[in-house]
Amino acid sequence: MMLSRIRGTGSAVPAKILTNSDIVKIVDTSDDWIITRTGIRERRVAVEGEYTSTFATIAAEKALQMAGIGPEEIDLIVVATVTPDFPFPATACLVQNNLKAVNAAAFDIAAACSGFLYGLSVVDKFIKSGGAKKALVIGAEVLSRIVDWSDRNSCVLFGDGAGAVVITAEGGESGILSTHIHSDGTYWELLHQPGCGNRNPASHKVLDERLVFLKMQGNEVFKLAVRAMEDAAHEALSANNLKASDIDFFIPHQANRRIIDAIGKRLGLLDSQLVINLERYGNTSSASIPIALDEINRNQSMKEGDIVLLDAFGGGLTWASTLIRW
Ligand code: UT7
Repeated sequence: MMLSRIRGTGSAVPAKILTNSDIVKIVDTSDDWIITRTGIRERRVAVEGEYTSTFATIAAEKALQMAGIGPEEIDLIVVATVTPDFPFPATACLVQNNLKAVNAAAFDIAAACSGFLYGLSVVDKFIKSGGAKKALVIGAEVLSRIVDWSDRNSCVLFGDGAGAVVITAEGGESGILSTHIHSDGTYWELLHQPGCGNRNPASHKVLDERLVFLKMQGNEVFKLAVRAMEDAAHEALSANNLKASDIDFFIPHQANRRIIDAIGKRLGLLDSQLVINLERYGNTSSASIPIALDEINRNQSMKEGDIVLLDAFGGGLTWASTLIRW
């Protein structure tokens, strides 16, 4: 059976840095509170003229270059995002156009912070069924445009950026060994954007009531995130007859340092197994895992055969895992 092999990774973040000290000038918070409660020191924010498709395209170009694959060879593009350039067409179609990936089918996936792993799961099934041979999976967000910059509970957390992987169908033993995806819609209200869909279409009322912005009950989400991500990791390990100590790189969704530490502790992971970069980017939702993956791939931390576990949780609620033999 063909496996989905990651042959290239890429990432792109805005040049503009917003530090905790910058945020202190916007809302009633402190550098100390943000670092202690979240681990975040700074995040990147898009400027005028930069969109989700901008970062998605650059990340994809870098991944293609690493893989040595031309855009016309790609037959599938999946973009995971909850901050698309437009409600439609799909951001994936804009990326296809930018790349001139003329032979690809392109669509978006909305699974919030789990979106990239949902994308990997879908593409893995295309690869295994023979429906695609070379694909791009991209997680990309410009969350700074749906964050309420007057709400200190949420605005300190998020950042913008994109990460991408090129996946090829290959024989052999390396590649994606398992994907698992889960949802529980009973919790949809804990993390959502009330406005701009057809329940609360554009109106003065929607603007006045700030419904265009993301709403999160952080504390509830926190507790559910730790449990769901721990379960997702155990599920991936047991499906592959592996133990936590077999993991070379554990790459969790980068939402909060305390969430990552709690999961690491519950799984019995060493600090050396954990990949953490949220102090520099904040929570970039679907982009967080592919950005971290690209960073450790480019600094040559990973070697062939390494076991890499990706673990995500997000609005929906959704949670997911992907286990890779590199
Ligand atoms: O990516 C998708 C999933 N999202 C997440 O995983 C996010 C999960 N949640 C979290 O990361 C955390 O819940 C937060 C970082 C959002 C909040 O941390 P917390 O420890 O859960 O704080 P809290 O919401 O319980 O608030 C504690 C206090 C409150 O004050 P009172 O009511 O105790 O007086 C807040 O008003 O901290 C206050 N607070 C702040 N203070 C200074 C909340 N935000 C801030 C802030 N600066 N930015």
